[in-house]
Amino acid sequence: MVQVLTEAQRRKWDSSDDAMFYAEPRFVHHLDAAFRQRLTQLYRERIPAGAVVLDLMSSWVSHLPDDVAYARVIGHGLNARELDANPRLDRRWVQNLNLDQHLPLESSSVDAALIVAGWQYLQVPEAVAAELLRVTRPGGQLIVAFSNRMFFTKAPQIWADGSDRDHLAYVAEVLIAQGWPTPTLIAESTRAPGLPGLIGAKGDPFFAVIATRPC
Ligand SMILES: C[S@@+](CC[C@H](N)C(=O)[O-])C[C@H]1O[C@@H](n2cnc3c(N)ncnc32)[C@H](O)[C@@H]1O
Repeated sequence: MVQVLTEAQRRKWDSSDDAMFYAEPRFVHHLDAAFRQRLTQLYRERIPAGAVVLDLMSSWVSHLPDDVAYARVIGHGLNARELDANPRLDRRWVQNLNLDQHLPLESSSVDAALIVAGWQYLQVPEAVAAELLRVTRPGGQLIVAFSNRMFFTKAPQIWADGSDRDHLAYVAEVLIAQGWPTPTLIAESTRAPGLPGLIGAKGDPFFAVIATRPC
């Protein structure tokens, strides 16, 4: 792995084992309906039916379109009960990526790797990005999506101190350093659902970094 972060940038306020923070399941939505709709639309556009999908840092929801059938959706997270409740997952495993970044997957076995509202908790993102490059097949994609919220005490300093634009640039920098080609960046506002949206209320802003493994 090519190191991008300093040790100070990896530090977070709460340095206790992340597994403790996620010990109890949270059956809540971390992102609002406007963000989730935009994400599902992106998945519909980008991920073909029949793909092998990896939802890394997942929970009880994967945000994939209900009417699209994939060959397999593999889920990873930190809470087994959340993953068990996720109806999209065909297979699941629990692993603390801040302790061990090796993914128990074959090289070039995944068509689309997804991380939603998770990258901001990675302390060794370089090694995770290198592993994602290994497991993604040539021509396959990585989609890292996030908004402007976080569990502040669990985010490393690099994320906690950065702006939305910094976050986009930072994810791209880490990917490029590990050999991913220059990614596509998306930064959009969203409209709140229902009447508030019609009179101008905003939803959670939508950010995504999309990289394709060269063939
Ligand atoms: C805000 S939740 C987002 C969950 C899900 N992707 C979603 O869209 O609802 C953050 C997720 O990051 C994952 N996560 C956080 N810290 C982690 C760590 N150290 N190792 C592995 N996964 C972690 C957990 O799966 C957790 O559910």
